[in-house]
Amino acid sequence: MRNIVVYASRTGTTEKMAKEVAKHLGAELMKVEPKETYGKFASALTRVAKEKARNEQAASLTPYRDFSGYDNVLIGFPIWAGDVPTYLQDFIQNSTLGGAAVIPFATSAISGIRKADRTIRLLCPGSKVENPFVSNPRTVTRFPAWIRLLELNYRK
Ligand SMILES: Cc1cc2nc3c(=O)[nH]c(=O)nc-3n(C[C@H](O)[C@H](O)[C@H](O)COP(=O)(O)O)c2cc1C
Repeated sequence: MRNIVVYASRTGTTEKMAKEVAKHLGAELMKVEPKETYGKFASALTRVAKEKARNEQAASLTPYRDFSGYDNVLIGFPIWAGDVPTYLQDFIQNSTLGGAAVIPFATSAISGIRKADRTIRLLCPGSKVENPFVSNPRTVTRFPAWIRLLELNYRK
């Protein structure tokens, strides 16, 4: 199976998880960056709140990709304002998934992934979207079981 882990990460938490996932699945790894960086925590919070209030989508610096040669695209991100960072939404929406299945995962301080999962499904209308996993202090103990499940189902 051809797998790729596509992820966004501002402070490295999701990156660490993405690397772990890629290692266990023998997957490629690619990071998506915003066109305009979000800066430190306070400025990131302010900007994300503004995006939300105005229903604005930030742009991806990372060029859009064609993933149709892959079996699975694992999409990892930090939960921002309960949702997928908008620059990653821009990237997903404008990239081509072809027949690849999508497996969302995230890290958060406390929030669940339900809203972000809905967003991913809206952004990938033609794709099979597998059940997502969010890692936060409440769920982190389930991470090894989730990884084992991925290995069983998606390892080449
Ligand atoms: C702008 C911003 C918004 C955030 N919104 C949420 C949120 O709604 N719920 C939550 O649990 N954590 C939220 N967080 C915390 C991050 O999701 C969490 O720290 C994540 O693990 C950071 O991942 P990273 O190091 O890969 O960037 C937010 C962080 C930032 C910077």
